[in-house]
Amino acid sequence: MNAQISDRVQRSFSRSFRSYHASASQQAEIADRLVHEMRIGDAPVHFATALEFGCGTGHLTHRLCTAFDFENLTVNDLSPEAAETAAAVGAAFMCGDAETVEWPHRPDLITSASMIQWLHDPLRFLQRAAQSLAPGGWLAVSGFGPEQYRELVRVGSNAKAPGLCGSNDLVAAVEGQLDIVSSGESLSSLYFPSPRKVLEHLRKTGVNGRAQKVWTKTSLAQFTDHYVRDFGTDAGVSLTYHPTWIIARKPW
Ligand SMILES: C[S@@+](CC[C@H](N)C(=O)[O-])C[C@H]1O[C@@H](n2cnc3c(N)ncnc32)[C@H](O)[C@@H]1O
Repeated sequence: MNAQISDRVQRSFSRSFRSYHASASQQAEIADRLVHEMRIGDAPVHFATALEFGCGTGHLTHRLCTAFDFENLTVNDLSPEAAETAAAVGAAFMCGDAETVEWPHRPDLITSASMIQWLHDPLRFLQRAAQSLAPGGWLAVSGFGPEQYRELVRVGSNAKAPGLCGSNDLVAAVEGQLDIVSSGESLSSLYFPSPRKVLEHLRKTGVNGRAQKVWTKTSLAQFTDHYVRDFGTDAGVSLTYHPTWIIARKPW
């Protein structure tokens, strides 16, 4: 990831660290989904060495530790605050950019929820993960597809994450190296009473790291009018989530 962007993303997630967990209901569901798919895909209950990228406040970390048993679990994040997540489950913490940080050798599980969309080249990251897995190792990763926050794109916000990719892209990245256990994507909408509440939601979940927007009275009014005109419903204004995921296994 470009160093300037990675600094902004890190600062944004660090700022929202205390508000993220309770506000990120969609990310919590995505973490549930990944663990569920691993279980129905017959993942082993015990992993000797596991590596989680972008652990944040631990939606996925806690679910993994409930469902599976780890001899050595290492969790990573760009934001130093996530050391708390590691400490809470007795995992090692590896702070840094997932695209450049040194990984432990030959993990049996590489996993990540709702992080790869921030990478400059998420597909290359998946290929590197596939390569470094131990034989028989598992990959369980979720990101977001091109419809993520489509409302913001339409109203001209540049808060969009750089690495949005569909589940077909995730599969194509590792096919040939890994056997695909399952993959998929879904679309869902959250509804907010006003566009201002959408911005508050983005701030609380740390996803406005690339926006760099300084609002004036006029630009906020324009944003609000445009948002309500195009996405206003009886239930409020919509915000689309487009999670995508892949579970795959390295042949022995
Ligand atoms: C949307 S949160 C997801 C957190 C958690 N996995 C979950 O499911 O709730 C994204 C996390 O990825 C981290 N992150 C973003 N870019 C990263 C990168 N290049 N390397 C490592 N972590 C990164 C952020 O700091 C943040 O904690």
